[in-house]
Amino acid sequence: MDIIRVEGGHAIEGRVCVSGAKNSALKLMAATLLAPGTTTLQNVPNISDVHVMGKVLKRMGAVIEVVDEHTLTIDTSGVDSWEAPYELVAKMRASTAVMGPLLGRFGCAKIAMPGGCNLGARKIDMHILGLEALGVEFDTDHGYIHAKAPHGLTGTSVTLEFASVGATENLIMAAVKAKGATVIDNAAREPEIVDLANMLNEMGAKIFGAGTPVVTIEGVEELKPVTHRAVGDRIEAGTFIVAAALAAGPAGVEVVGFNPIHLGMVIKKFEAMGIRVERIENGVRVFKCERFEPVDIQTLPFPGFPTDMQAQMMTLSALADGNSIITENIFENRFMFASELVRMGADIRVEGHHAMVHGVSGFSGAQVTSPDLRGGAALAVAGLVAEGYTEVSAIYHIDRGYERFVEKLSSLGAVVERVAVADPTDD
Ligand code: EPZ
Repeated sequence: MDIIRVEGGHAIEGRVCVSGAKNSALKLMAATLLAPGTTTLQNVPNISDVHVMGKVLKRMGAVIEVVDEHTLTIDTSGVDSWEAPYELVAKMRASTAVMGPLLGRFGCAKIAMPGGCNLGARKIDMHILGLEALGVEFDTDHGYIHAKAPHGLTGTSVTLEFASVGATENLIMAAVKAKGATVIDNAAREPEIVDLANMLNEMGAKIFGAGTPVVTIEGVEELKPVTHRAVGDRIEAGTFIVAAALAAGPAGVEVVGFNPIHLGMVIKKFEAMGIRVERIENGVRVFKCERFEPVDIQTLPFPGFPTDMQAQMMTLSALADGNSIITENIFENRFMFASELVRMGADIRVEGHHAMVHGVSGFSGAQVTSPDLRGGAALAVAGLVAEGYTEVSAIYHIDRGYERFVEKLSSLGAVVERVAVADPTDD
């Protein structure tokens, strides 16, 4: 079992380049099912979730070549199965992103029902309701969802009850091959969805309005493979910005490889806390903030404050000069991070969807456990300024979404290492 050990008190400086966005790359990979032939994806992060999505596609008959660490070719011409098996869906819920493309190409899909995770129930009822409107029939047995479109997919209007990222993506990927036009109202607007729509349009799809609440898709007969570069990971970038705000040396830290416009609300909140964020070519330069103003946060669908930055923001608020309130509106259970940060000396009280954060003067290093990939990364970042050593366990969560996280932090001067330790439960 590996842990991350951080020694607090060392300044970080220099430049870190974030990887391609996990939450785009996984969907781009799934979307290659819609275009028989070989699609080349560039700027793909080398993370475990990408490896799992690769296994899902290979299980269906796709042939994947790793051209270099961040470039994949995916040949889906030979795909002859349309099942996402339990053991892979259970490992990674995002495997459900193959449902839309499978329906778009084959008119059927067999997907293991996604379990919940430590963020909450993670249902897919909105995916199903929207796809049923397109003519898909569903039944479930033995833990699998069986989807089929006996009369093909027919474009229609769908209004999402909530601007679900996954539901918007699955609906777009099914609708691109439907007969006629589909209009999705209350669509999610995340930059990763725009990236997906851009690639699909490069393939020959006709998608209009991605990134706005109303997305229109005119069905086409055929999509062709392309070469496409994934957008930079805005959440990884936000994580390193928090690290810099806490621990940067006098020269600051450059965080590049992403579009700051994709972090608009987050940067606005950073600046409200007193953090200096300078725009530079392909990213930002961030300076250490000596005194954080308290700030209230509501996590919301894009362009609102992203839930994937909630733990990182809580880390900053925990050291602010006053009280902050963080409200988590996206997931029903995404405050497990708070109890780990309390072990490091934070003063946080959780009541339902609200966390009351009372700023303290500093953290003390402790042994803590990653609750999820963002919380795990935030704990390691908190360790940069904690007194003494912080040891973060369950770092497989971090490996799901952060490529070379330890190497990137240590390249900036952090004293951090990945250490193999005996599993304490081994007798
Ligand atoms: C995507 O998850 C991201 N994952 C999440 O990132 C991110 O936190 C989330 O969007 C919100 O931005 C990937 O893209 C792989 P949703 P997704 O559908 O698509 C409920 C990370 O850290 N819901 O917008 O699952 C759902 O339970 C991960 O990288 C339904 O109830 O998000 C959740 O509470 C964590 N029924 C909320 O909506 C549905 O049919 C948001 O879900 C669909 C969703």
